[in-house]
Amino acid sequence: IWQYSLRPKFFKEYIGQEEAKSNLSVYIQAAKQRQESLDHVLLYGPPGLGKTTLAGIIANELGVNFRITSGPAIEKAGDLAAILTNLEPHDVLFIDEIHRLSRSVEEVLYSAMEDYALDIIIGKGPSARSVRIDLPKFTLVGATTRAGALAAPLRDRFGIINRLEYYKQSELEFIVTRAAEILNIGIESTGAGEIARRSRGTPRIANRLLKRVRDFAQVVGDGVITRDIADDALQRLHVDKMGLDRIDRRVLQCIIEKYDGGPVGIDTIAAAVSEERDTIEDVYEPYLMQLGFLGRTPRGRVATKSAYEHLGISQTGKEQ
Ligand code: ADE
Repeated sequence: IWQYSLRPKFFKEYIGQEEAKSNLSVYIQAAKQRQESLDHVLLYGPPGLGKTTLAGIIANELGVNFRITSGPAIEKAGDLAAILTNLEPHDVLFIDEIHRLSRSVEEVLYSAMEDYALDIIIGKGPSARSVRIDLPKFTLVGATTRAGALAAPLRDRFGIINRLEYYKQSELEFIVTRAAEILNIGIESTGAGEIARRSRGTPRIANRLLKRVRDFAQVVGDGVITRDIADDALQRLHVDKMGLDRIDRRVLQCIIEKYDGGPVGIDTIAAAVSEERDTIEDVYEPYLMQLGFLGRTPRGRVATKSAYEHLGISQTGKEQ
């Protein structure tokens, strides 16, 4: 049955993130043996690496309900109270983008996480009183692209903290091959390799590219994804040999051509390429830094020698 879902439901189907996976499965087994709720879990790292998938797996492995919401979706303390009071014992509550919770909601969450209780103020003025409502013991799984953006009191209430890493080429190849099988797409291993190599270490991107390349294979080729078909399709999608897209290249070109390689401030780059500063910081920069194309200095971002080489721009005249 699980074969038909792209999103893995149990650890045995989840490829990669070996450290997070093996540690989490120990904590889950231990909690189950003690018949306790699992400690709260924080997952952080770049988008598309499987934070939501992993949260769902934690719930499935625990054998409990999985409830999903996100920081921006919880507008008032009462919204959070409604969710929390409807949980069953040991349930997993997943809050995506947990760094975007409002201050007032965050404060309600503190006592919920620590004491499994809600302190609600009833009435106004001199007759106001505080009522404590007990909650079932639950597990909060929080996800964020930036652990540094979390208030320290919130971060400190997570007993388990895991950073998700970019996937290796071999892992992505496996993920692409598995997805192709589930979606009934014919693919040669060199075709899977080409898509994997150009997916910026990110399964969500690999699966998206797989679907687009399939369209080209179907209409331009004979339905099977070969290396040539993948290469042709990815070129047409402006995804280069290293997996950089047009925005990645615009960011690097901006630093190199407008600011002589940097250093240049992030807000200046954001304005020059017409993207949100947060998007550049959370989505584009982490991969460019991982590739060694971008450096961060106290005075701003710099393009490295490898970035010049990759874009085929000469460094002559540039002080080195
Ligand atoms: N699909 C997306 N991410 C995956 C992963 N880590 N393992 C297996 N399939 C996936």
